[in-house]
Order: sequence, then structure tokens, then C-alpha cells
Amino acid sequence: MAKQYDVAVIGAGAAGMMCAAVAARRGKSVVLLDHATKLAEKIRISGGGRCNFTNINAGPANFLSQNPHFCRSALSRYTAQDFLDLVKKYRIPHHEKHKGQLFCTESSEHIIAMLRAECDAGEVSWRMPCKVGSIEKTESGFHITAEGGDIECHSVVIATGGLSIPKIGATDFGYRIATQFGLGIIEPRPGLVPLTFDGPSWEAFVPLAGIALEVEVSTGSEGKGKGGKAKAGGHFREDLLFTHRGLSGPAILQISSYWQPDTPIVLNLLPDLDVAEELIGAKTTVKKQLGNVLSGWLPARLVEGLLAANGFAADARLADMPDARLRKLGDAINRWEIIPAGSEGYKKAEVTLGGVDTRELSQQTMMANKVPGLYFIGESVDVTGWLGGYNFQWAWASGFVAGSSV
Ligand code: FDA
Repeated sequence: MAKQYDVAVIGAGAAGMMCAAVAARRGKSVVLLDHATKLAEKIRISGGGRCNFTNINAGPANFLSQNPHFCRSALSRYTAQDFLDLVKKYRIPHHEKHKGQLFCTESSEHIIAMLRAECDAGEVSWRMPCKVGSIEKTESGFHITAEGGDIECHSVVIATGGLSIPKIGATDFGYRIATQFGLGIIEPRPGLVPLTFDGPSWEAFVPLAGIALEVEVSTGSEGKGKGGKAKAGGHFREDLLFTHRGLSGPAILQISSYWQPDTPIVLNLLPDLDVAEELIGAKTTVKKQLGNVLSGWLPARLVEGLLAANGFAADARLADMPDARLRKLGDAINRWEIIPAGSEGYKKAEVTLGGVDTRELSQQTMMANKVPGLYFIGESVDVTGWLGGYNFQWAWASGFVAGSSV
């Protein structure tokens, strides 16, 4: 005989544990199912093992979605301060790193233990590892087939996340269930992901792996793509890292979520300097080689790559350069437009953009408008945060509102 619960939550990650704990503390009988053998592996590896668990400045402007206002309600009902209060209640050592990003000082294990304790305080039933089969609508709710016995419940919450990092158990379960119940999906794609470059124009930069510097990066209106494909996009000032296959670092991860294939990104390698003006101004007073002048502002190996890529001899003298050529070089440094070949894909992506179309869900509860009792939360939904603790804040907030409603 099937076991009866008020609520079944599928996926014991960030959003699922938050939702199960909140529902159980309201007195609901809750079962939490996950196919993984290790609990909340993504929280464990997040923030380099120290979990950037929220961002104190989190607001709707830090999220991408086809429906940008959707996240507003959940984010205002469960704020970064609410999660921080919970972290403080559990006396978890934490600190602010940069731009409002809050990290565990010792280990992300503390966040997992805290969420587990919240679930246990509400007497959530755990089924893990557990393969989940089908979910069917019944007259009174849902029938779930799962390893360890079937389940009957009034509400089902899908918290199985996105497609990023398949090796730790990501699946398309959420999208399949949404499709089964006739809900639309915004096509998923990797986000917060390194970008790859190839071809002759990239050759001069291949040897630069390991070089890092602070840049401004943008996409959209500043970068007109092939066929005018570029979209309105983001603008960030963060660190850039040259890799063996292209570019990474926070600047690139951030812009990757806005980037569209076949369109350029625009890099300003010296955001505080008008390079052309500086070079032209220095022509008469500085009797140096161009490379030496630029090496005062940028890593020497990067200067070599930039000069080679733009057709300048390494020993060219600044004083001999026509202003027009210096303006071109200035542009290549202050407005370097490059078209990525692609991204490193789900294997390296921190998040999945797209997911269950938010127009199918109630923004107050996360319940599907046309399937009463069926909820989607966390990364399975078309709401994706910037790098910097925003994605966990969405997981907590969407989990909280669903847990308060089921
Ligand atoms: P999450 O992925 O956490 O959980 C989904 C759960 O569902 C998993 O436990 C999985 O096993 C289970 N599941 C999947 N398919 C299933 C199936 N078919 N049956 C049963 N169970 C199934 N964000 C942030 O804010 N700060 C940070 O520091 C980082 N750092 C970071 C580092 C790395 C390397 C990655 C990959 C990601 C981050 N993120 C992050 C993003 C953040 O981890 C992510 O957005 C949240 O974990 C999403 O929470 P969810 O609960 O939606 O999914």
C-alpha cells in the first residue's frame, strides 16, 4: 500500500531542504526524496567549499528570467537577512567577502548540517538514495512511484535543480515533469560558465593561460553581433582569467549568462585609463618602446599578445606611431570586441539558465497555475542569479514560499 504524506519534495538540494523544513515546521507530513548517495553535493562544493550562501544586496535586478518581475515576491518574502538570521541562530562562522557576498568561514558542511537539522526538527521523512519513477495526478493529489514504495500526497514539490555538473547527479527530471503536465519550458542553457575561443585571431592569446586582471565586460547593445543578433545585456567590473581554452574568472562567468552564440563580448582591459589619449599625450615626452609603456599598465605577456594580435612590432617606438594607429590600439584595449566560439558547457557551468516558464507558476507560491498541488522551485525554474550568492538566495526564497503554501 502507498504511504500517505501531505507533501512530497523531490530533490534534497538547497531549495528542496528549505521547502521541506518550512512545510514540516508548519505541521505538514513531508517526505523528501533524492537519488543521490551524498546529501546536497552542490552546496558542499559551492564557493570553493565555503558556500557563498547569500548576497546581502540580493534583489530582482540580480536575476535573469524571461519574466524579470516574477522573482520579486519570493525575494521580498524571504530575504538575505532572513537566511543570515538562520545562519546566526546556528552560530555558523561566516564573513562578507566582496560586494555583499556572504561565505562560511570554515566549511559549506555547516549549511548542509543546518538545513538537515531544520528538516529533522520538523520530522521530515528522508528517502535517500531513492530512484523516483512516475508522478500521476489523482483525485486527491498525486501518486508517486519510488524506490522503497509508492507515495500518495496532496502536494508535490519539484526541486531537482538544473543540468549543471551532471557528474554529481543533475538530471532533466524537473523539465520532464513540467512537460508531462503541459507546462512550458524556456530552453535551458549553461550559465556562469567559462567561454572558449579559437581561430587565428585567438592564437596570440593561447600562451597567456594563468594571467588575471580586473576588467569591465559587457555584451548587448555595445556588441553588435552577426546579423544584429546581440541582445540587451549585462555590464560587470570583475576579474578576468586567461585559460588554456579561452577566458574565465568572475567577469566572464557573469557575462556568459547574458551572452548569445555568434555575438561578441566587449572587454575593457584598462577601465580607468583612456589608452589612446594617454599614448598620444606621451608621444613627445616618453622615448620608450610602445611595449614598455603598455607594460607599465598591463601584464607584460598580455602586452606581447595584444601587440602581436594588432599587428605591432614588439619593439615599435611610441614616438614613431601615427595617432590613428595609437587610437586603433587604444580601442583594442579599451573596447576589445571578441566573439566566443562557445562555452565549456554544463560540465563547468555553475547554473542552468531557462527552465520551467514562470508564466506557468504563481509568484506568491510557486504552484503551477493549471495543476493545483504541483510546485517547482529553485534552479528548475527560469530564474537565474548572478555569480555571488544570488542563486542560493533564490533557492532559499522559492523554497520558503512553496513550503509556506503546500
Ligand atoms: P540543487 O542542484 O542544489 O539540488 C537538486 C537536487 O535534486 C540534488 O540533490 C539532486 O541529487 C536531486 N535530483 C536531481 N535529479 C533527480 C532525480 N531525477 N530524482 C531524484 N533526485 C534528483 N550558488 C550560490 O549562490 N553561491 C555559490 O557559492 C555557488 N557556488 C556554486 C559552485 C558550483 C561548482 C556549482 C555547480 C554551483 C554553485 N552555485 C552557487 C549554484 C547553486 O549551487 C545552485 O543554484 C543551487 O544549488 C540550486 O539549488 P536547487 O535546490 O534548485 O538544486
